[in-house]
Amino acid sequence: MREETAATGGLLFGTGPNGIFRRTVPKPEEHGERRMLRVLGLPQLTMIGVGAIIGAGIFSLAGAVARDVAGPAVLVSFLIAGAASLCAAFAYAEFAGMVPRAGSSYTYAAAVLGEVVGWVIGWDLLLEYTAIVATVSIGMSGYAGFLLESVGIHLPVWMLGAPGTGEGHRVDLIAMLICLGVAWLLNRGTKTSARVDVVLTVVKIAVVLLVVVVGLSKVDPGNLTPFAPFGWGGAVTGAATVFFAVFGYDALSTAAEESVEARKLLPKAMMLSLAISMVLYVGACIVLTGMVRYDQVDPSSGFSSAFATVGMSGVGVVIAVGAVLGIVTVSFSFMMGASRLWYALSRDGLMPKWFGELHPVRRVPHRATWILGIVSAALAGLLPVQEAAELTNIGVLFAFVLVCSAVVVLRYRKPDLPRGFRCPGMPVVPVLGVLFSAWLMSFLAAGTWLRFAGWLVVGLLVYALYSYRNTRRVMPGGSVDLASLDDPVR
Ligand code: ALA
Repeated sequence: MREETAATGGLLFGTGPNGIFRRTVPKPEEHGERRMLRVLGLPQLTMIGVGAIIGAGIFSLAGAVARDVAGPAVLVSFLIAGAASLCAAFAYAEFAGMVPRAGSSYTYAAAVLGEVVGWVIGWDLLLEYTAIVATVSIGMSGYAGFLLESVGIHLPVWMLGAPGTGEGHRVDLIAMLICLGVAWLLNRGTKTSARVDVVLTVVKIAVVLLVVVVGLSKVDPGNLTPFAPFGWGGAVTGAATVFFAVFGYDALSTAAEESVEARKLLPKAMMLSLAISMVLYVGACIVLTGMVRYDQVDPSSGFSSAFATVGMSGVGVVIAVGAVLGIVTVSFSFMMGASRLWYALSRDGLMPKWFGELHPVRRVPHRATWILGIVSAALAGLLPVQEAAELTNIGVLFAFVLVCSAVVVLRYRKPDLPRGFRCPGMPVVPVLGVLFSAWLMSFLAAGTWLRFAGWLVVGLLVYALYSYRNTRRVMPGGSVDLASLDDPVR
């Protein structure tokens, strides 16, 4: 790198061929090259979106926030978080309609803000997605343990949780097995796994509908007053926590190279999946805090316990089963997102090609998937859920800041570029997305910031020692004119 810097007269920080801010758009797959199969249409994409959005956030966090932070005003927390997420969703949708390539916000940032920014965001998302898989697997393991207990199966204590989470806990074995199982399923091939995902997402939607429809008749309006027992400040603080429930569509964008007509369908699927989730959340929140008083809500299995309280234990068990199955789809979506992101980083030369190579028959990035399965299993087995969740939050919010900024930059730099979808309210909406994300980041612990900073430093070292040089071999030719985004990849 030193020689190149000298040769280009200090343009290392420029946008020229040797500059770290050169803009890159991955080349369209060449004829005959192994590529992923385009099998996903709007229904499947929307289902993948809903599958990634509705999960541990509503099933676990809503109860905890209602009880300790917001009371029935948890509904307002969801609305605030949803509004903030919508700002970012608009920005994601605009990009998804322009750069329909695998790799999520990594690809968007590399095309608009330059290679090194793209790399930083890609590296960030690898951590974030892996941490999400670990977090939701830990949450699911809790529900699964509850169900096993309810049918009289008592597992040995050592396998019930990470060290430090309870007396005698050594490892969360169920959470580990869930991570490995999802990796195995993904490696069966996109079409098979997308089908399973759709089925499980339908089950999950049915369970939330069951909660809403059956639960509404059991709502006691008396439980909804006082509506904000912790004040409106509680509702706002709660929004920072339940934010976990309202993202997920960003993982959807990583499926771009496996969808038909990605440019048109991805933005639609993002909006649809967020809208469907928000409608279900509103109903579920009213039911949760309307059936039982907020201070009686069970934080670990809120909905099941609420139904048990009103004498409908059978419905409670059905909900618990649905929650376990439903949360699987979140793991599925994010591990798929992470493996496709890794595929994109390898394809573009930022990481060794070996990681991203597709399976000769199933055409999935099988090595990356197995590595992600193993690493997320290690995190899920050994980390307390809060630590895994915090790593998730900082990564998501950081990505939101970059993507919302990038959409504004590109709109002014290339206003005439064809866009499958245009973010409304420019620039207010994406700027609000940036501000809201930064504000939520300020709630995170110093330890989380330190871990995150450490991960980014390692990433920059990898970039300096390997990626910078190698990506110029794989994608020579320097800056790509952003007009090349016109070249539709369908
Ligand atoms: N939004 C996802 C969930 O709530 C991550 O589990």
